[in-house]
Amino acid sequence: KILILDFGGQYSQLIARRIREFNVYSVIKAHNISLAEIKEIDPAAIILSGGPDSVTLAGAPGVNQGIFELQIPIMGICYGMQLMAQLLEGGVVEKAEHGEYGKANLEIFSGREIFKDIDSNTQVWMSHGDHVKQLPDGFERIAQTDLTETAAMADFERDFYGLQFHPEVNHTLEGKTMLHNFLFKIVKAQASWNMADYINEEIEAIRNQVGKGKVICGLSGGVDSAVASAIVHKAIGDQLTCIFVDHGLLRKGEAKQVRRTFGEEFNIPLIYVDARERFLDKLSGVSEPEEKRKIIGEEFIKVFDEEAEKLENVRYLVQGTIYSDVIESGGTEKSATIKSHHNVGGLPDEMNLELVEPLHFLFKDEVRKIGEVLGLPEEIVWRQPFPGPGLAIRIIGNVDKAKLNILRNADAIIQEEIRDAGLYKEIWQSFAVLPDLRSVGVMGDERTYGYPIILRAVNSDDAMTADWARLPYELMQSISNRIVNQVAEVNRVVYDITSKPPGTIEWE
Ligand code: XMP
Repeated sequence: KILILDFGGQYSQLIARRIREFNVYSVIKAHNISLAEIKEIDPAAIILSGGPDSVTLAGAPGVNQGIFELQIPIMGICYGMQLMAQLLEGGVVEKAEHGEYGKANLEIFSGREIFKDIDSNTQVWMSHGDHVKQLPDGFERIAQTDLTETAAMADFERDFYGLQFHPEVNHTLEGKTMLHNFLFKIVKAQASWNMADYINEEIEAIRNQVGKGKVICGLSGGVDSAVASAIVHKAIGDQLTCIFVDHGLLRKGEAKQVRRTFGEEFNIPLIYVDARERFLDKLSGVSEPEEKRKIIGEEFIKVFDEEAEKLENVRYLVQGTIYSDVIESGGTEKSATIKSHHNVGGLPDEMNLELVEPLHFLFKDEVRKIGEVLGLPEEIVWRQPFPGPGLAIRIIGNVDKAKLNILRNADAIIQEEIRDAGLYKEIWQSFAVLPDLRSVGVMGDERTYGYPIILRAVNSDDAMTADWARLPYELMQSISNRIVNQVAEVNRVVYDITSKPPGTIEWE
């Protein structure tokens, strides 16, 4: 078991994720847990994470000095390395004249196991304002960059390692090799842990949290809420009731599929709420995107709340929050509101329900793996992300039944074609947008005056940035033909070739 002590760094969860990828078990704890607790965990090694503070300032987060007496390998990353230098005899940390941020070339001159199989010059990712000025006793410098003399240090005797850069991020090209070396060459960890173990631990944790209490969940049809509900159901069976609010803004066939999968195949008590008219009424005449989001978000909460109130003694609410939601909603860093995602942060505080968030620390691909292990159907597990406000933000301007139908039909053709071309999993999102304008065309000698459909398909890792997908021409051809021929109101198809930034993925 690897213990990660968290100093509030942006990438702490990423360290855990990397370790999971190597099938090694890890736990993250706050930096200030007691030595007794650490001994209880009995880790094979400790990793000290990065963090936003400066060890040179009073009140900076520390760690129990006793960890250095446990006779286990310790790796300090960024802040973790500086803390190590400061706490160990002889080390000095000070504010660097120039911070170092972004890519840097690491020049390795020693390192033995930790840098095994790595070129002596390799790109790393830096993000620090302080640096280690003087090494603690027993340490040697093992690598440098142009700006940082001690970019890595080691005490090979005690197996203490300090890395000023971040091995856990992709921009450190050999970062995975370094972590692999640490785990398997130095710690000699066992690669025996897997997602099934994760599920079992989660199930234990859910049972401990809720006891005999009643739990509700909201299903949206998306992979996160589906996997969260499935795992909670596995843990506590019929103590869980799911509520599925059909706001009428879903894609073709989605509502049916949710009801079939959860209600019939998984046998989860499921309340289906047909709120389609209600949402349409509220949205009538509204064209401003944020206004739409607000209405949908508020209405969703109202409907959900009404249904939840009918159930008695509910104490817990399942949320499919995943780690990127936590980051994106400013959980770990400050960020400007570009769009107010309504399903992040979710339901109102006054519901007074305690949250159950079994996926809180997982990344999207890990959530999918768990979904597969739990036996959820491929269409749900591999579903592309879909915004909470649904098709309402893919219809530019007013939303009404007729437009929803046009968009749904065009979108279904796109989904089908992308799947048939074998690209569905590879592409981050592919969908149709219906703008608020019409143009002239000609069909069978007749003038037409109809809507265009905008085809949007993007590649992305995390939705923060995205690039338009280079779809094969034949595929675009066939999408265009089918939409124009099969969706009566549409006479033109255009392709959006804008990346994010400067565009966003959705049009609203
Ligand atoms: P943008 O359009 O901001 O989208 O590039 C980034 C990702 O977020 C999804 N998205 C939303 N998801 N509620 C959501 O739950 C929303 O209001 C919302 N707006 C955008 C979008 O589909 C993409 O995956």
